[in-house]
Amino acid sequence: MKDFQELIDFIRSIYKEPSDFIPLHAPVFNGNEKKYINDCIETTLVSSVGKYVDRFEDMIAEYTGAKKAIVTVNGTNAIHLALLVSGVESGDEVITQPLTFIATANAIAYAGAKPIFVDVDRDTMGMSPDSLREWLMANTIKQINKSTNQPETISKITKKRIASIVPMHTFGHPCRIEEIVEIANEFNIPVIEDAAESLGSFYKGQHTGTFAKLGVLSFNGNKTITTGGGGMILTNDVELGNHIKHLTTQSKIPHTWEYDHDNIGYNYRMPNINAALGVAQMENLDDYLENKRQTTKKYKSFLENTSIQFVDEPLESKANFWLNSILLKDRDQRNAFLQFSNDRLVMTRPIWKLMNKLEMFKKCQTGNLSNSIYLEDRIVNIPSSVKIQT
Ligand SMILES: Cc1ncc(COP(=O)(O)O)c(C=O)c1O
Repeated sequence: MKDFQELIDFIRSIYKEPSDFIPLHAPVFNGNEKKYINDCIETTLVSSVGKYVDRFEDMIAEYTGAKKAIVTVNGTNAIHLALLVSGVESGDEVITQPLTFIATANAIAYAGAKPIFVDVDRDTMGMSPDSLREWLMANTIKQINKSTNQPETISKITKKRIASIVPMHTFGHPCRIEEIVEIANEFNIPVIEDAAESLGSFYKGQHTGTFAKLGVLSFNGNKTITTGGGGMILTNDVELGNHIKHLTTQSKIPHTWEYDHDNIGYNYRMPNINAALGVAQMENLDDYLENKRQTTKKYKSFLENTSIQFVDEPLESKANFWLNSILLKDRDQRNAFLQFSNDRLVMTRPIWKLMNKLEMFKKCQTGNLSNSIYLEDRIVNIPSSVKIQT
């Protein structure tokens, strides 16, 4: 309890909030947000047409190094669309991690597929390449698809096609994405990186979300930068990127007055007014990341002298420290700290309940999930907002 109280006092010394409540991650609007939003209102270009959409996409493409970035209404539908263009069809199966936000598994379900859950690594909290390989070796067979003549991987148990692998960079800590992509290539399975939480996180100097054919970002209100709600698909395949853009706009064939559509399309395009917010936020991203890193440094050195372990960035990675995490002794201590901190109006949250424990995904296939269970019992997020006052 002494350590708990000291940590709460320390959090309060970092975040000197005007009210007693300290949120987990609050947005900061201290740049050109109002100016750009006013511009949208004054020009009436608040919706599907406007310069901020293109500008926001260009800024994200330049920052991440992706050849193409396509904005969407949110990260969940960005994953949905990425799965569809990867060729995931109704009845397929998709491998992901059980330790993720529900959106990853939900998007797989929207595509009509069933998730398969393989374990995470303890240090990255993201998909473990060893668990992925082990599961694929033990549970699948490779074959040639008779109608497409292409190699594919089939589940031995369900006889369904494994159509995609979706690893996630948990709380902005990069997972071992290079190895995952390598394994996926051996089994001819496309990878989609769920980088929703990791704008500003790099693995071996390369931005997360750009290792696989497709990556996805989120700009939800609780993320490092926000557009209110929003997402982005990243790809280095420009042709595929153009196709995705077309799909996000109801697959409308450009024409001055004619309505013509060449595909089932989606209303997944981000409105200009949200993109305006995104442009202003991007202008401050480097400052926000540095600000967060300074807070992380303080947490780290404070926790060195306590019984509570700080979760640091993995090797060969630069994390955005979207949400700082601590590792407690066991589930009892985790629950005690959650109760203690929330009772004192300091917002803390446990890592997610494992997806395979949820009613909808209970019957899905899983590998050995011992690391996921270990982390589920122990990880807690502590306040991590960009600090406005110093
Ligand atoms: C891991 C992960 N995937 C997907 C999403 C979905 O993003 P959105 O909330 O923008 O739909 C989120 C977060 O919100 C997330 O944390």
